[in-house]
Order: sequence, then structure tokens, then C-alpha cells
Amino acid sequence: MDLEDSALTCFDWVHEHNPDRGSTGQSCKLINRRGPQWWDSAIRKGSRVSVLVFGDKVAGYANYGRNRARSLHFEGEIYELYLRPEFQGLGFGRRLFTAARRDLVQSGLKSMVIWALSDNDPATEFYRALGGRMVARSSEKFGPKSLDKVAFAWTN
Ligand SMILES: CC(C)(COP(=O)(O)OP(=O)(O)OC[C@H]1O[C@@H](n2cnc3c(N)ncnc32)[C@H](O)[C@@H]1OP(=O)(O)O)[C@@H](O)C(=O)NCCC(=O)NCCS
Repeated sequence: MDLEDSALTCFDWVHEHNPDRGSTGQSCKLINRRGPQWWDSAIRKGSRVSVLVFGDKVAGYANYGRNRARSLHFEGEIYELYLRPEFQGLGFGRRLFTAARRDLVQSGLKSMVIWALSDNDPATEFYRALGGRMVARSSEKFGPKSLDKVAFAWTN
């Protein structure tokens, strides 16, 4: 399984657990467009990727880089952090998060932010458990729907 398939599986997970979430169809379409060229271009533009590999399987990944929201004064951002369902709840999320955070700090991006959809309770609880402080709220359009999201930050 490659990274592209892994990203698709993660969105399938969101869909399975949140069947009424209007974002998912649109998100799947967006993720579907991600082939090797998308990842290549993202990495060329400065995105970094940490991949958790178990045997010959991609179990999860994080991609991250400079903070994109100019209104927030944090240097780095984790754009996505996903684990395949069978690898969740085993401490791998913390390990991926720690690897991404360490890489950002080593690149000189010492403070960091992550956005999560407000109704993604497992993700928001996970970020709280990892010491994140809620610093902002916003919303994002996914097709015709507007979904609330929250930002968590780490400064040291
Ligand atoms: C969110 C996600 C990355 C968390 O990774 P994980 O491997 O399941 O979490 P971990 O097992 O590493 O848990 C780390 C800590 O967070 C806590 N935690 C994790 N999920 C929690 C929850 N739902 N409620 C409360 N605490 C939680 C754990 O208790 C653990 O604390 P501890 O280390 O002090 O014991 C993972 O479940 C996932 O990929 N979910 C689906 C995709 C997603 O929603 N990604 C986030 C998009 S913003």
C-alpha cells in the first residue's frame, strides 16, 4: 500500500464514523486527486512527510511545514495526521506527532499549530492529551457546506 491509498483509507474512516458529515464526499474527491505528482509537488514546496510503516504497510502519516494561516502567529503547522483504523489507540499517533514536532523544531519552526474539525472529538481529545492549547476557531467550506474547525497550539 502506498501513501496515496493510505490517505484514501483515512478519509474512508472518517466517513464510516461520521456518515452525516457533509465534508467527506468532497474531501474524498480532493484526496483522490492526489497522485505521486501531488505529493511530489507538496514536498517541493516545503511540506515534509513522516510515514509510519508496519511490515510492508503504511500504517499512518503526518505532513507538516510552515504555518499557512497568517492570522496565527505560530511558525509551524501539522497539516494532516492520520492512522489507519487498526493502528489507532496504540500510541502510534503520539509517536507520529512527536516525530513531526521534532522535525519542525529542528527546522527552526519552534511553535506549532494543528487544525481539527470541531466535531472530531477523538482528534480534539487527542490534541488536548498531547498538551495542545486551543487558540482559534474558524470555518472552512467543503463544497456547499461550511464546517467549524479549531486550532490547537504548542509553544515549547
Ligand atoms: C487522532 C489520532 C491521530 C490519534 O492517534 P492514536 O494513535 O489513536 O492516539 P494515541 O494512542 O497515540 O494516544 C495518545 C494520547 O492521546 C489520548 N487519546 C487519544 N484519543 C483519545 C480520545 N478519543 N479521548 C481521550 N484521549 C485520547 C490517549 O489516551 C493517549 O494519552 P496517553 O499517552 O497519556 O495515554 C488517530 O486516532 C487517527 O488517525 N484518527 C483518525 C483520523 C483523524 O481524525 N486525524 C486527525 C485529523 S485533525
